[in-house]
Amino acid sequence: MTSENKNKSGVSRRGFLAGMGIGAGAGVLAGGGGVAAYSAETDSTGEDSSISFRDAHQAGIVTAQQEHLHIVAMDVLTEDRDELIDMLATWTTMAERMTQGLPAADESGESDYAVPTDSGEAQDLGAKNLTVTVGYGPSLFDDRFGLKNSKPAQLNPLPTFPSDQLKDELCDGDIVIQACADDPQVAVHAVRNLVRAGSGVVEVRWSQLGYGRASSTTTEQATPRNLFGFKDGTRNIHSSETEAVDDFVWSDEAGWMNGGSYLCARRIRMLLELWDRQNLGEQQATFARFRKSGAPLGTEDTDDQEFAEVPFDLIYGREPVIPEDSHVFLSHPENNGGARILRRAYNFIEGSDTFGHLSAGLFFIAFAGKPEETFIPIQMKLSRNDRMNEYVRYESKAIFACPPGLKEGQDWGTQLFG
Ligand code: HEM
Repeated sequence: MTSENKNKSGVSRRGFLAGMGIGAGAGVLAGGGGVAAYSAETDSTGEDSSISFRDAHQAGIVTAQQEHLHIVAMDVLTEDRDELIDMLATWTTMAERMTQGLPAADESGESDYAVPTDSGEAQDLGAKNLTVTVGYGPSLFDDRFGLKNSKPAQLNPLPTFPSDQLKDELCDGDIVIQACADDPQVAVHAVRNLVRAGSGVVEVRWSQLGYGRASSTTTEQATPRNLFGFKDGTRNIHSSETEAVDDFVWSDEAGWMNGGSYLCARRIRMLLELWDRQNLGEQQATFARFRKSGAPLGTEDTDDQEFAEVPFDLIYGREPVIPEDSHVFLSHPENNGGARILRRAYNFIEGSDTFGHLSAGLFFIAFAGKPEETFIPIQMKLSRNDRMNEYVRYESKAIFACPPGLKEGQDWGTQLFG
């Protein structure tokens, strides 16, 4: 999806970052004027690579999955509701600009004597299909900001699942920003500048980089591979499945969450050293798919069989060909009352652990309109019985309610607080 969507106004009501040059007081939030000065809407190949910011639903959910992720969860520091509303308005303007390849704020009034309004590292990179998706955690709806009565129905802290090995500092959060782009620096730049603009109002709780997509959300995209070497995303919900998207991705509950989606996140460490010592048969039995083609066991190991039906009833000798503890058996809709989720996961490798092993894994993100009927029961089943559990450690959990898309003239502050 390309966009002709130029920057809209959306002026912050307070200059809480005026000292730095960010905020309404500093005239940073461009209306028409500042925008004309920039035209970074094409990438280095000259092709338009920006994605519309305003739509019925937020971008970054069914959007063709970009290659890179920077996701950050924040806690709100202020107890002043207006300060939070102002920050969300400022973020909206900044996010909209950045998704169009513009600097986070209008730089026309800059001087050697003022702090630059944009941190600068994405200046020549264009939009690179950047999407910025916001979401709110259950804790934001406590007593602090008068939001108690507008808490979405299914926004409850995720349960602790069997075999979780959670690190508390990587869990939960009041607000999430998911930035995805086809250039890592563009995603990092977006998060960095929003965090910077939120200084004093929010602080970072956890953040995660993902360097390669491990799902596909459209049929045009080839299925990528995860760090176990398997194709991942074959049976994902694809954006062209409009009925499934409506049934399983968008929330139909009343109130501001209507048309939004719940973001369910799990940082899953993958024990590559252990996995890399297993024979191919065991690896394939773990997923019930061939490693090479991604086709289900019991079919041909050829690329044209990747999307073949999974033969759950096929018996070989006395055993089912699709092991009942395999990841696909346990997560397939047929064995979950038809339930489906939209996966948007990313691979990560970040340094090493203290035992001389790579610290690698999958940052799993699922979007669900009704997580209590889809994501949670599927995850519960996997956490109990998945053969894959021997090779992974679930280190975090978080859930956020992502509101629907913004209408013209609306910003995230007025959308949430009315
Ligand atoms: C490190 C963690 C994980 C790895 C390596 C992994 C890998 C895979 C692979 C290789 C497939 C088969 C290809 C496909 O259809 O995409 C698959 C399918 C699937 N996975 Fe995962 N997965 C992980 C975590 C999860 C989690 C946490 C959930 C949900 C709670 C999940 C839900 C699913 C679902 C719903 C399918 C589709 C099953 C089907 O319809 O046949 N996965 N996964």
